[in-house]
Amino acid sequence: MTKPRVVVTGRIPEPGLDLLREVADVWAWTSDEVIPTEVRDEQLATADYAVTLLTDRVDQAFLDAAPALRMVANVAVGYNNIDVPACRAGGVTVTNTPGVLTDATADLAMALVLMVTRRLGEGERLIRAGAPWQWGMFMMLGTGLQGRRLGIVGMGAIGVALADRARAFGMEIAYHNRSAVAPEVAERLGAIRLDLDELLSTSDVVSLNCPYSEATHHLIDADALSMMRSDAFLVNTARGPIVDEAALAVALRDGVIAGAALDVFEREPAVEEGLLALDNAVLVPHLGSATIETRTAMATLAARNVVAVISGDDPITPV
Ligand code: GLV
Repeated sequence: MTKPRVVVTGRIPEPGLDLLREVADVWAWTSDEVIPTEVRDEQLATADYAVTLLTDRVDQAFLDAAPALRMVANVAVGYNNIDVPACRAGGVTVTNTPGVLTDATADLAMALVLMVTRRLGEGERLIRAGAPWQWGMFMMLGTGLQGRRLGIVGMGAIGVALADRARAFGMEIAYHNRSAVAPEVAERLGAIRLDLDELLSTSDVVSLNCPYSEATHHLIDADALSMMRSDAFLVNTARGPIVDEAALAVALRDGVIAGAALDVFEREPAVEEGLLALDNAVLVPHLGSATIETRTAMATLAARNVVAVISGDDPITPV
C-alpha cells in the first residue's frame, strides 16, 4: 500500500519529522526562510496532509493547490493564519498545539511585565551605547509589582498560567473573558472578573492573552488606550493586530500610558516605525514559545495529530 504523503511547509524539530516518517512519505521544507509559494504549491499538489507554521496563510489558494488534502496540522496554538471555515467546507481537518506552549508563553509574558516595569531594555541600551553612567538614587526608577493589579484579557490556559506567575510576584489579578474561570481557579488566584472598560481603567499592567479574530481586531485602539491609566503598562504576547500599533506608538509618545512590551506585531515582521525610537517600548521578535523543549513538544504534538488521523483515530487537538 502506498504511504500517505505529508508536506511540512517549514523547518520543525526532528522528533516531529521522525514520528511522521514512521507512517508517511514526508517532504519537508528545510530552510528557516518562509517557503516560496511556487515550491509550496508544487508540493501541495500531491499532499494528503500538511504540517504548517503560523507564517503560512492557509487560505482558499492554499486549499486549491492541494486537491487531495485531508488535514492541516498547525504548529502553533493560534490558528488565525488558517481559514477554518474554508477548510471545513473542503473537508479538511484542522489541528493546533494547545497546552504544550502554555508555560513558555506565560514565562515570556511575565518576563515582559518585568522588563517594561523595570526598564530593562532601556538599561541594556544605555550600557551598550557606552554612555557614562553611575549608580544613582533616582536613576532609571521603575515600578514595583507588589500589590499592583494585573488585568488579563483572555483567561485561557496561558492567561491563568501568567496569573499564577504574577501572584508569586505579589500582584493581584483581574481578568476579562467571555466566561468565568472555574471557581477553584478564581479562588486560588483571588481573581476578579471585570468588563473590559473597568479592567483597562483599573489595571497597573494589562496583558493580552486572547486569540486573534475579527472580534478582537484592534481591541486595544486609541479609545481603549485612553481608558488606561497614565502610569499603566500594556503587554502583548498574543497576536499583533489585537493592538492598533500606530495608536499605541502615539499613546506611548504622548504619555497616555507609561510603557508597552510587545512580542507580536500588527504587520509581522514589520514593526511600526514610531515604536522604534521609544524607550518605553520593549520589542521582542515573537519569542513566546521559543524554547527548544517547547518547540519540540509543539512539533511532536502536530505530528501526533497527523499520525492519529492516518491511523484512523480522531485528531488529538482539533480546532
Ligand atoms: C505562537 O504564537 C502560537 O500561536 O503558537
